[in-house]
Amino acid sequence: MSNPEPSRRGFLDYLTGSLLLIIGLLFAIPVIAYLLAPLRRRAEGEVGEATFSDAGPLANIPVGQWHLIQLDVVRQDGWKKTRVKQAIWVRREGKGDEAVSIMSPICPHLGCPVNWHPDRKEFKCPCHGGVFNSDGVRVSGPPPRSLDPLSEFKIINGHLWVRWQDFKIGVADRVPVSI
Ligand code: FES
Repeated sequence: MSNPEPSRRGFLDYLTGSLLLIIGLLFAIPVIAYLLAPLRRRAEGEVGEATFSDAGPLANIPVGQWHLIQLDVVRQDGWKKTRVKQAIWVRREGKGDEAVSIMSPICPHLGCPVNWHPDRKEFKCPCHGGVFNSDGVRVSGPPPRSLDPLSEFKIINGHLWVRWQDFKIGVADRVPVSI
């Protein structure tokens, strides 16, 4: 007559081992993710603490005029990261990063996207008629301040990398808000 005890004990050992393995993995996954985070951030263009987005080759931007470019921006909300498209206005006056100007397209009045009118050499907001000159300086209309420049950018291997920044709208002072 066979004894069922050894096989039951074997099954319990197997079950205990599996549970320990699962618990070990549950602890190990966050540690591995933490250790790999610097590599992932580097792949996403994060330089230091700030996240930069690739705006493409600088050579693709025509010299002497404002050009609209779409950025992939990573937004952090607590632990949650989401990717959003964000347009920027970029102007290049020559070679090198001193010749690059970048402007947020968000009208500081109520947040409509401004358009560049090359014939008039001005930005105009379609919502309430705010007008800005070719350097983004407010000329007329209800916007309480000039357009917001995006001054954090780098040129790496011929690509323009830009750090997107939101600013408070409807106020005269330029107040950065976290993204
Ligand atoms: S939102 Fe641009 S003028 Fe009002």
